[in-house]
Amino acid sequence: MAASERRLVDDLAKAIDGADFAWSLVLVGEDQRDKLAALTSDLLGKPSATGDGKQITSGYAYWGIGPTIAWAHACADPFYLVMKQSLDSFTRRWNEVRDHVGAGFHHVSFGVGTGHKDRLVLSHLLDRHPDLLYVPVDMSSEMLRLGTQQATTGLGLRGHRVAPVQLDFSLRDNLAAFRDLVHRVVGDEPVLYSLLGNTLANFDRDAELLADLTSITRPQDLFLLEVATTEALSEELAGEAVEEYERSHAYRKFVTSALMHNTDLTIRLDSVRFHGSVEGDRALKVKVVYQNQTGGDLVVMLPDRNRVPFPEHDTIRLYLTRKYARSALDRVVAEAGMRRVAVTHSDFQVARSAHGFGMDLLLLAPGGVPRRGDDPARDIWEN
Ligand SMILES: C[S@@+](CC[C@H](N)C(=O)[O-])C[C@H]1O[C@@H](n2cnc3c(N)ncnc32)[C@H](O)[C@@H]1O
Repeated sequence: MAASERRLVDDLAKAIDGADFAWSLVLVGEDQRDKLAALTSDLLGKPSATGDGKQITSGYAYWGIGPTIAWAHACADPFYLVMKQSLDSFTRRWNEVRDHVGAGFHHVSFGVGTGHKDRLVLSHLLDRHPDLLYVPVDMSSEMLRLGTQQATTGLGLRGHRVAPVQLDFSLRDNLAAFRDLVHRVVGDEPVLYSLLGNTLANFDRDAELLADLTSITRPQDLFLLEVATTEALSEELAGEAVEEYERSHAYRKFVTSALMHNTDLTIRLDSVRFHGSVEGDRALKVKVVYQNQTGGDLVVMLPDRNRVPFPEHDTIRLYLTRKYARSALDRVVAEAGMRRVAVTHSDFQVARSAHGFGMDLLLLAPGGVPRRGDDPARDIWEN
């Protein structure tokens, strides 16, 4: 880098660190017009009464200020059990695995959300590496701003060590470019990557996404994965998983907020429907759809003024989520080319919650599966 370029970067870093104003320097990885075109095309799907045509895929559900605010409200709703318990129990679960993360790690967080968990991770890593780089990655620039502030304010992390990246991490080309960027910036120093809050479960091709994300890791890196889990799989439990989501009014507002902000539909919260099923031997699956129950055919206007027919009983899939069978996670992790370093589990301690539902936090490393007995936490996981 030429001296003048280095000076510019130095000056910018000093200006950000020294200002009494909350600057954030965001790297935008994609043209947002392309994202809008992709959303429009997903909403042009064929009619389906079961959420298999039109859809809002993960990322778009959180895209923009309306969905970001709605997500923050949903996370604070005690009836939205998965996130509430995930946030409440994260401190304990993180404390149980964090000692396996050595000194000198940078942190890359895929899907920052409200930033509460990243804050805990960062405060631990910062103790061991005060000059670490924090790279939250999110499709929503508004979520990045909200989450990054929550994650970093008052931690003593200097502004120029925070590099939010607005990017859709479900696209392979994006990940390849992102990997080059991260490796260039950190050199050989280790990175702790994270995908928390059951985000993995929101993707149709979840196993492939995990493999793509973890393929970025080098031998010195670690990957922190948090997923919702179930002890057993049955249609009855799928029904109980549905009930868990159905209960929260704030969650219904969140799942419909992308529709509200990207179409001219008049949203009725009682038109949100939940379908539970068993996905092979690996997960309970919950599809959340918006169904036209107005008694007539509608035409929906999209942000680019395209008009899409929305016939009676047709649906738009708003959200996809899962609870993974704990017995299947080993396979998912191995297929992603990773092995467990440590794992913790937390059961949902709520009267109406099905027995065996919980959250698991896995610390993963690239490479093969260690032998049984290598890791005491492995035996806890398997019993
Ligand atoms: C379920 S929230 C989890 C938030 C946080 N990690 C937690 O555990 O509370 C998912 C987060 O990932 C982001 N996200 C979802 N799909 C994405 C995608 N394809 N690319 C980038 N960000 C995405 C959302 O904007 C949101 O911030």
